[in-house]
Amino acid sequence: MTELKPLTPTFPLPVLLSRDQIHNRVQELAAAITKDAAGEPLLVLGVLKGSIIFLADLARALPVECSFDFLAAASYGRSIHSSGSVHLKKDTDAEIADKHVILVEDILDTGITLNYLCKHLHLRHPRTLRVATLLDKPSRRREPIAADYVGFTIPDHFVVGYGMDYAERFRNLPDICIYTPEPTS
Ligand code: PRP
Repeated sequence: MTELKPLTPTFPLPVLLSRDQIHNRVQELAAAITKDAAGEPLLVLGVLKGSIIFLADLARALPVECSFDFLAAASYGRSIHSSGSVHLKKDTDAEIADKHVILVEDILDTGITLNYLCKHLHLRHPRTLRVATLLDKPSRRREPIAADYVGFTIPDHFVVGYGMDYAERFRNLPDICIYTPEPTS
């Protein structure tokens, strides 16, 4: 057995949502999205990078014709706090007009990123634009925005794993874990 080099003094990190809980909830979200799609094709738009694992699992549970594309937005950088402004690092290449779009996010926190992306996409006239987020932290909201499909509503913990990072670490953890940064002296 390979011994993992400790990543932090608290590794392994405390699990907030296990891989089984996530799997079960993703199937439920996929069922709700499938029902609402009513047989129409979907354009599944992932917000890089945090959404990729959720998108991969969600899309495989959708018995619906799908195409994928991605946007890249950043609001955190290496901090655990939102900078308050969004940097669109990559726009979608897909034709949006008249499509049924599902925007896939890993986490809805202040809502600043989602608010920006929804405004950006609405300018391109999708037929419908719905948002699926795995996690929602409503206590942190700074923009009055909500997702159409929410996996889990969680308290104000900084979470990593299942695609989510702290300074690009921990995205590959299969569970969603609570990360408490080491104090900077
Ligand atoms: C995270 C997450 C959302 C956004 C949510 O992205 O993936 O896009 O923050 O936060 P908000 O509601 O406060 O705007 P991040 O900027 O950390 O980039 P990443 O997905 O590449 O990790």
